Amino acid sequence: MKHRKNIIVGNWKMNTEVKSGINLAKQILDLSDNITNVEKIICPPFVSLTSIAKVLKGSSIQLGAQNVNANENGAFTGEVSTAMLHGLVSHVVLGHSERRMFYDESSDQVSEKAISASKAGITPILCVGEDFSVRKSGKAVNFITKQLEASLQGFSNWQSLIIAYEPIWAIGTGEAATSGQAQEMAAVCRDIICSLTPDFSNSVHILYGGSVNSTNVTNFLEQPDIDGALVGGASLNAQEFSNLIRLASSK
Ligand code: 13P
Repeated sequence: MKHRKNIIVGNWKMNTEVKSGINLAKQILDLSDNITNVEKIICPPFVSLTSIAKVLKGSSIQLGAQNVNANENGAFTGEVSTAMLHGLVSHVVLGHSERRMFYDESSDQVSEKAISASKAGITPILCVGEDFSVRKSGKAVNFITKQLEASLQGFSNWQSLIIAYEPIWAIGTGEAATSGQAQEMAAVCRDIICSLTPDFSNSVHILYGGSVNSTNVTNFLEQPDIDGALVGGASLNAQEFSNLIRLASSK
Protein backbone atom coordinates (compact mmCIF):
# COMPACT_ATOMS: atom_id res chain seq x y z
CA MET A 1 0.00 0.00 0.00
CA LYS A 2 1.42 3.35 -1.08
CA HIS A 3 1.52 6.02 1.57
CA ARG A 4 2.81 8.77 -0.72
CA LYS A 5 0.29 11.36 -1.85
CA ASN A 6 0.05 11.70 -5.65
CA ILE A 7 1.53 14.77 -7.31
CA ILE A 8 0.29 16.15 -10.62
CA VAL A 9 2.63 18.65 -12.29
CA GLY A 10 1.75 20.68 -15.36
CA ASN A 11 4.77 21.64 -17.46
CA TRP A 12 3.53 24.35 -19.81
CA LYS A 13 6.87 24.43 -21.66
CA MET A 14 7.17 27.44 -24.02
CA ASN A 15 3.42 27.93 -24.31
CA THR A 16 1.06 30.75 -23.26
CA GLU A 17 1.72 34.46 -23.17
CA VAL A 18 1.26 36.38 -19.93
CA LYS A 19 -2.42 37.12 -20.49
CA SER A 20 -3.42 33.67 -21.72
CA GLY A 21 -1.30 32.10 -18.97
CA ILE A 22 -3.15 34.05 -16.29
CA ASN A 23 -6.45 32.92 -17.81
CA LEU A 24 -5.36 29.30 -17.89
CA ALA A 25 -4.18 29.47 -14.27
CA LYS A 26 -7.54 30.99 -13.25
CA GLN A 27 -9.45 28.23 -15.02
CA ILE A 28 -7.32 25.52 -13.41
CA LEU A 29 -7.85 27.17 -10.04
CA ASP A 30 -11.62 27.29 -10.52
CA LEU A 31 -11.80 23.66 -11.51
CA SER A 32 -9.35 22.10 -9.09
CA ASP A 33 -8.61 24.27 -6.07
CA ASN A 34 -11.06 22.29 -3.95
CA ILE A 35 -9.73 18.85 -4.96
CA THR A 36 -7.93 17.39 -1.95
CA ASN A 37 -5.62 14.46 -1.30
CA VAL A 38 -3.32 15.32 -4.22
CA GLU A 39 -0.50 17.83 -4.71
CA LYS A 40 -1.02 20.18 -7.65
CA ILE A 41 1.79 22.14 -9.28
CA ILE A 42 1.82 24.25 -12.44
CA CYS A 43 5.01 25.37 -14.18
CA PRO A 44 4.39 28.32 -16.52
CA PRO A 45 7.12 30.19 -18.44
CA PHE A 46 9.36 32.56 -16.40
CA VAL A 47 7.70 35.75 -17.65
CA SER A 48 4.32 34.72 -16.23
CA LEU A 49 5.47 33.50 -12.83
CA THR A 50 4.93 36.75 -10.92
CA SER A 51 1.43 37.33 -12.27
CA ILE A 52 0.38 33.72 -11.82
CA ALA A 53 1.79 33.69 -8.27
CA LYS A 54 -0.78 36.41 -7.49
CA VAL A 55 -3.57 34.30 -9.02
CA LEU A 56 -2.58 31.25 -6.96
CA LYS A 57 -1.91 33.06 -3.68
CA GLY A 58 -3.67 31.35 -0.78
CA SER A 59 -4.79 28.45 -2.99
CA SER A 60 -3.92 24.75 -2.95
CA ILE A 61 -2.06 25.00 -6.26
CA GLN A 62 1.69 25.43 -6.12
CA LEU A 63 3.93 27.17 -8.61
CA GLY A 64 7.05 25.82 -10.28
CA ALA A 65 9.65 27.08 -12.77
CA GLN A 66 10.92 25.09 -15.74
CA ASN A 67 14.64 25.70 -15.32
CA VAL A 68 17.15 27.68 -13.28
CA ASN A 69 20.80 28.71 -13.42
CA ALA A 70 22.92 27.23 -10.63
CA ASN A 71 24.80 30.50 -9.96
CA GLU A 72 23.54 32.97 -7.36
CA ASN A 73 23.99 36.00 -9.65
CA GLY A 74 26.50 37.50 -12.06
CA ALA A 75 27.35 37.89 -15.73
CA PHE A 76 25.09 35.22 -17.20
CA THR A 77 23.01 37.10 -19.77
CA GLY A 78 19.49 35.84 -20.13
CA GLU A 79 19.62 33.48 -17.16
CA VAL A 80 17.50 33.27 -14.00
CA SER A 81 18.99 32.30 -10.64
CA THR A 82 17.61 30.41 -7.67
CA ALA A 83 17.85 33.62 -5.63
CA MET A 84 15.43 35.24 -8.09
CA LEU A 85 13.02 32.34 -7.80
CA HIS A 86 13.27 32.12 -4.02
CA GLY A 87 9.90 32.97 -2.49
CA LEU A 88 8.23 32.95 -5.90
CA VAL A 89 8.13 29.23 -6.71
CA SER A 90 8.16 26.09 -4.58
CA HIS A 91 9.42 23.74 -7.30
CA VAL A 92 11.62 23.72 -10.38
CA VAL A 93 11.76 21.25 -13.27
CA LEU A 94 15.39 20.29 -13.89
CA GLY A 95 17.11 18.20 -16.53
CA HIS A 96 14.10 17.94 -18.80
CA SER A 97 15.05 16.02 -21.95
CA GLU A 98 14.29 19.10 -24.07
CA ARG A 99 16.95 21.03 -22.14
CA ARG A 100 19.40 18.14 -22.27
CA MET A 101 18.75 17.81 -26.02
CA PHE A 102 18.42 21.38 -27.30
CA TYR A 103 20.71 23.17 -24.81
CA ASP A 104 23.26 20.42 -24.21
CA GLU A 105 22.58 20.32 -20.49
CA SER A 106 24.73 17.65 -18.88
CA SER A 107 23.88 15.61 -15.82
CA ASP A 108 26.72 17.44 -14.02
CA GLN A 109 24.98 20.74 -14.67
CA VAL A 110 21.65 19.25 -13.61
CA SER A 111 23.16 18.15 -10.30
CA GLU A 112 24.59 21.65 -9.70
CA LYS A 113 21.18 23.14 -10.37
CA ALA A 114 19.48 20.64 -8.05
CA ILE A 115 21.90 21.47 -5.22
CA SER A 116 21.49 25.20 -5.78
CA ALA A 117 17.68 25.01 -5.95
CA SER A 118 17.61 22.93 -2.82
CA LYS A 119 19.72 25.48 -0.93
CA ALA A 120 17.19 28.14 -1.92
CA GLY A 121 14.35 26.03 -0.53
CA ILE A 122 13.04 25.06 -3.97
CA THR A 123 12.18 21.40 -4.59
CA PRO A 124 13.78 19.97 -7.74
CA ILE A 125 11.60 17.92 -10.07
CA LEU A 126 14.51 16.07 -11.60
CA CYS A 127 13.83 14.49 -14.99
CA VAL A 128 15.49 11.46 -16.52
CA GLY A 129 14.61 9.50 -19.63
CA GLU A 130 16.08 7.44 -22.42
CA ASP A 131 15.56 7.89 -26.15
CA PHE A 132 14.12 5.30 -28.48
CA SER A 133 17.44 3.88 -29.65
CA VAL A 134 18.52 3.22 -26.05
CA ARG A 135 15.17 1.58 -25.30
CA LYS A 136 15.36 -0.53 -28.49
CA SER A 137 18.85 -1.75 -27.68
CA GLY A 138 17.68 -3.00 -24.26
CA LYS A 139 19.95 -0.56 -22.37
CA ALA A 140 17.30 1.62 -20.73
CA VAL A 141 17.94 0.42 -17.17
CA ASN A 142 21.66 0.99 -17.48
CA PHE A 143 21.16 4.41 -19.09
CA ILE A 144 18.70 5.65 -16.47
CA THR A 145 20.89 4.36 -13.64
CA LYS A 146 23.88 6.34 -14.91
CA GLN A 147 21.84 9.44 -15.75
CA LEU A 148 20.09 9.60 -12.38
CA GLU A 149 23.24 8.89 -10.36
CA ALA A 150 25.11 11.62 -12.23
CA SER A 151 22.21 14.09 -11.92
CA LEU A 152 22.15 13.56 -8.15
CA GLN A 153 25.89 13.82 -7.58
CA GLY A 154 26.51 15.77 -4.38
CA PHE A 155 22.79 16.18 -3.68
CA SER A 156 21.78 15.64 -0.07
CA ASN A 157 18.41 17.27 0.65
CA TRP A 158 16.48 14.04 0.19
CA GLN A 159 13.34 15.12 1.99
CA SER A 160 12.77 17.65 -0.76
CA LEU A 161 13.16 15.88 -4.09
CA ILE A 162 10.84 14.67 -6.84
CA ILE A 163 12.05 12.45 -9.66
CA ALA A 164 10.28 12.25 -13.02
CA TYR A 165 10.85 9.36 -15.40
CA GLU A 166 10.05 10.67 -18.87
CA PRO A 167 11.06 8.43 -21.77
CA ILE A 168 11.87 10.75 -24.69
CA TRP A 169 10.03 8.52 -27.15
CA ALA A 170 6.80 9.05 -25.20
CA ILE A 171 6.97 12.84 -24.92
CA GLY A 172 4.46 14.64 -27.12
CA THR A 173 4.01 11.58 -29.31
CA GLY A 174 0.67 10.30 -28.06
CA GLU A 175 2.49 6.98 -27.46
CA ALA A 176 2.77 6.73 -23.70
CA ALA A 177 4.91 4.02 -22.14
CA THR A 178 2.97 1.02 -20.90
CA SER A 179 2.28 1.08 -17.18
CA GLY A 180 4.61 -1.94 -16.91
CA GLN A 181 7.48 -0.12 -18.62
CA ALA A 182 6.93 2.97 -16.47
CA GLN A 183 6.75 0.93 -13.26
CA GLU A 184 9.93 -0.96 -14.13
CA MET A 185 11.86 2.28 -14.56
CA ALA A 186 10.29 3.96 -11.52
CA ALA A 187 11.44 0.95 -9.48
CA VAL A 188 14.94 1.38 -10.92
CA CYS A 189 14.88 5.03 -9.82
CA ARG A 190 13.71 4.05 -6.33
CA ASP A 191 16.46 1.41 -6.07
CA ILE A 192 19.03 4.08 -6.91
CA ILE A 193 17.64 6.36 -4.20
CA CYS A 194 17.74 3.40 -1.82
CA SER A 195 21.40 2.76 -2.62
CA LEU A 196 22.25 6.45 -2.09
CA THR A 197 20.10 7.07 0.97
CA PRO A 198 18.11 4.08 2.28
CA ASP A 199 16.16 6.17 4.78
CA PHE A 200 14.43 8.18 2.06
CA SER A 201 13.78 5.56 -0.60
CA ASN A 202 10.16 5.21 0.47
CA SER A 203 9.42 8.90 0.75
CA VAL A 204 10.86 10.30 -2.50
CA HIS A 205 8.09 10.82 -5.07
CA ILE A 206 8.62 9.36 -8.52
CA LEU A 207 6.43 10.61 -11.38
CA TYR A 208 5.84 9.29 -14.86
CA GLY A 209 5.73 11.71 -17.82
CA GLY A 210 5.11 11.23 -21.53
CA SER A 211 1.71 11.54 -23.26
CA VAL A 212 -0.20 11.36 -19.99
CA ASN A 213 -3.92 12.16 -20.27
CA SER A 214 -7.08 11.50 -18.31
CA THR A 215 -7.60 8.20 -20.13
CA ASN A 216 -4.28 6.62 -19.22
CA VAL A 217 -3.25 8.33 -15.95
CA THR A 218 -4.97 5.82 -13.67
CA ASN A 219 -2.92 2.94 -15.13
CA PHE A 220 0.24 4.74 -14.06
CA LEU A 221 -1.00 5.80 -10.65
CA GLU A 222 -1.91 2.22 -9.81
CA GLN A 223 1.73 1.18 -10.03
CA PRO A 224 3.48 0.75 -6.66
CA ASP A 225 6.42 3.04 -7.44
CA ILE A 226 4.63 5.77 -9.42
CA ASP A 227 3.38 8.67 -7.34
CA GLY A 228 1.99 11.04 -9.93
CA ALA A 229 2.50 12.49 -13.37
CA LEU A 230 4.48 15.22 -15.14
CA VAL A 231 2.10 16.43 -17.81
CA GLY A 232 2.91 18.49 -20.89
CA GLY A 233 0.24 18.91 -23.59
CA ALA A 234 -2.71 17.90 -21.42
CA SER A 235 -1.78 20.52 -18.80
CA LEU A 236 -2.61 23.32 -21.26
CA ASN A 237 -6.29 22.39 -21.19
CA ALA A 238 -7.81 23.35 -17.83
CA GLN A 239 -10.63 20.84 -18.02
CA GLU A 240 -8.39 17.93 -19.00
CA PHE A 241 -5.76 18.91 -16.41
CA SER A 242 -8.32 19.08 -13.62
CA ASN A 243 -9.76 15.74 -14.72
CA LEU A 244 -6.26 14.32 -14.24
CA ILE A 245 -6.01 15.94 -10.83
CA ARG A 246 -9.37 14.50 -9.81
CA LEU A 247 -8.33 10.99 -10.88
CA ALA A 248 -5.08 11.32 -8.92
CA SER A 249 -6.92 12.44 -5.81
CA SER A 250 -8.96 9.26 -5.60
CA LYS A 251 -6.04 6.84 -5.90
P1 13P B 1 3.54 15.47 -23.00
O1 13P B 1 2.61 15.22 -21.85
O2 13P B 1 3.06 16.54 -23.94
O3 13P B 1 3.92 14.20 -23.69
O4 13P B 1 4.90 16.07 -22.37
C1 13P B 1 5.49 15.41 -21.33
C2 13P B 1 6.57 16.28 -20.77
O5 13P B 1 7.60 16.46 -21.38
C3 13P B 1 6.31 16.93 -19.48
O6 13P B 1 7.48 17.47 -18.95
